[in-house]
Amino acid sequence: MSENLSPIDTAKFVAAKRASAFVEDGMKVGLGTGSTAAWLVKCLGERVQSEGLRIVGVPTSTRTAEIARQVGIKVVSLDEARWLDLTIDGTDEFDAELNLIKGGGGALLQEKIVATASDQMIVIADASKRVEKLGAFPLPVEVIPFGWQTSKALIEELLFSMDVLGQKSSIRMNRDAPYVTDEGNHILDLHVKSIGNARQLSLVLNQVPGVVENGLFIDICDVVVTGHGDGRVEVEDINAGTREEDRVEFATSDNIFLDLAD
Ligand code: 5RP
Repeated sequence: MSENLSPIDTAKFVAAKRASAFVEDGMKVGLGTGSTAAWLVKCLGERVQSEGLRIVGVPTSTRTAEIARQVGIKVVSLDEARWLDLTIDGTDEFDAELNLIKGGGGALLQEKIVATASDQMIVIADASKRVEKLGAFPLPVEVIPFGWQTSKALIEELLFSMDVLGQKSSIRMNRDAPYVTDEGNHILDLHVKSIGNARQLSLVLNQVPGVVENGLFIDICDVVVTGHGDGRVEVEDINAGTREEDRVEFATSDNIFLDLAD
């Protein structure tokens, strides 16, 4: 399989495969959104089919719900599940404290609600997502459509008093119209370049009228599983203070995942 996948897809796959081993029979599992999370859903689907693993999944987007159903995972809403054992999701950036920027795929609101409603959040990532300081990836902020230009102006103004290097923002587009999230909102991407105090920025952004939620995940993630193109994985647990290396072996049968390669 590794011959058929690019190093980046191999990295995503091995991270997802390693993280899928955290899922136990009977668990209620939050299912993240994005290309790495899609690998995870496929890996779990494979365990459902081959081992008879019994889980219920709470997807964080309509895209993920569709994949989960396709691979045979029982899908329920968060209101049905109420509280989850575990959420596994991708990320756009993570730092040494396992704080994150998420929302590149436009699903940050449901992702944050689902992760917060879980005993544990595991993030799966390729090694390019690790950063010294958060902020090179534009920070997504979900805003309601009403008056979004005013919310944008207010956010840009407040960024001048924040510990960031850039104050510009852009509305995320889908062809020639603003992108619409699963919750019917828009996304502003903040080009802050570098964030000095992510906790403070997250709190202040959520005070702006029109802002629903921002993509900073502070003190939410417990474990990051980082995949590499050669099959190595690192498992970092912020609560236990441990960092372990492992290796995921490929089987020819893993070719069922090929449809997910970019
Ligand atoms: C979606 C997200 C994704 O987890 C994040 O964008 C990473 O995506 P990918 O695994 O495709 O790189 O936050 O809102």
